[in-house]
Amino acid sequence: MDKLRIAGGRPLQGEARVSGAKNAALPIMCAALLTAKPLVLANVPRLMDVHTMTRLLEQMGVRAAEGGNGALELQAGTVGSPVAPYELVKTMRASVLVLGPLLARCGQARVSLPGGCAIGARPVDQHVKGLQAMGATITIEHGYMNATAERLRGARIVMDLVTVTGTETLMMAATLADGVTVLENAAREPEVADLARCLAAMGAKIEGAGSDTIRITGVASLGGARHAIMPDRIETGTYLAATAAAGGRIRLRGAMPGTLDAAMEKLREAGARIAVAEDTIELEMDARPRAAGFRTAPFPGFATDMQAQFMTLNTIAEGTAVITETIFENRFLPALELQRLGAAITLQGSAAIVKGVGRLQGARVMATDLCASASLVIAGLVAEGETVIERIYHLDRGYEALQQKLSALGARIERIA
Ligand code: UD1
Repeated sequence: MDKLRIAGGRPLQGEARVSGAKNAALPIMCAALLTAKPLVLANVPRLMDVHTMTRLLEQMGVRAAEGGNGALELQAGTVGSPVAPYELVKTMRASVLVLGPLLARCGQARVSLPGGCAIGARPVDQHVKGLQAMGATITIEHGYMNATAERLRGARIVMDLVTVTGTETLMMAATLADGVTVLENAAREPEVADLARCLAAMGAKIEGAGSDTIRITGVASLGGARHAIMPDRIETGTYLAATAAAGGRIRLRGAMPGTLDAAMEKLREAGARIAVAEDTIELEMDARPRAAGFRTAPFPGFATDMQAQFMTLNTIAEGTAVITETIFENRFLPALELQRLGAAITLQGSAAIVKGVGRLQGARVMATDLCASASLVIAGLVAEGETVIERIYHLDRGYEALQQKLSALGARIERIA
């Protein structure tokens, strides 16, 4: 069942519950390696990547027990083998997040280099440089990073660029280091702040997470904790963009509106009416969207993980939008598929010029990655006639129960073989 068939042309109507954030769950699961005590998590999304991370941790000797309703208990009583093999890292780049915790807890780690992926080169030099500044010895042999450190020590680290997992790696490593670590030019993403909240609950001393300077005072050991994973802002933005494109009215419960300012700004510019309460967002759209161009940027800028979904919104808008991608060099792959549905997109280096057309037409298309899949689903909801999206397994990596949630909102969508 690796294809999705969508009969387009219906507005979305109703209510959906936002899932826990994948990009918060993955680093937080790795934090379990920092303590022998249990880490009890709530609101963990049921996703392929979470399953892969669980397998990776289990292979190191972590005990994992799933409860209902997104509960997951992880306990790293002892860490048997501090190794992240290529087979797992190549399917999920976030596996490199085990590097920092393993080194801090075991004094050694062997983690495969991730290599490239469809959206471009994705180096980990900032993770490596930061850990070296904290006293680790890291050599690269046969495609693996071999890291050792008797005891990491605090350091002032100015990161060359803003990296989310890089910041998370160093923050986790610093919790058990000797002395104070200051991370400058740190990622301000809300997922970094969520990880810091979990680490603090485990006994870590962290100030400034969510800002570009994070100060971590190392402690001798961390304990167990309970933590609820924050809501997924990318999923939230995807449903909002889908409704702005297809028309209709939706209410998203369990959201964190404060993490979506840049996206909501663009949706308003496109003509959507949005009402925000503490943890709900309502969006209503009853006209053809207006073009709304943007530039991707680290948080609080417009998230690269929502770029493709908002590109689809612009394909049917009135006017022309310029979309500039500044984070990854090859993130316009869905543009080529969208053209098969009738979109008018011209690519010029890191910019896409999207001229709104009145309508898209259903066709067979292929998903290349997670965000591309979501953008094609939105296109399918909007297009006239039937759209079949192949290689839909990418969606299972990042969107919990997408088909069920969209069906409940009135979409005609089914999995086919
Ligand atoms: C995280 C997210 C991913 C999102 C991305 C950007 C997780 C699990 N994944 O990925 O969904 O698309 O942030 O918001 O949270 N870079 C280097 N050297 C490094 C690290 C990164 O040059 O050591 C570059 C990358 O090539 C890229 C940019 O920095 O151009 C940002 O990447 P980064 O923030 O590290 O992305 P991830 O943390 O992998």
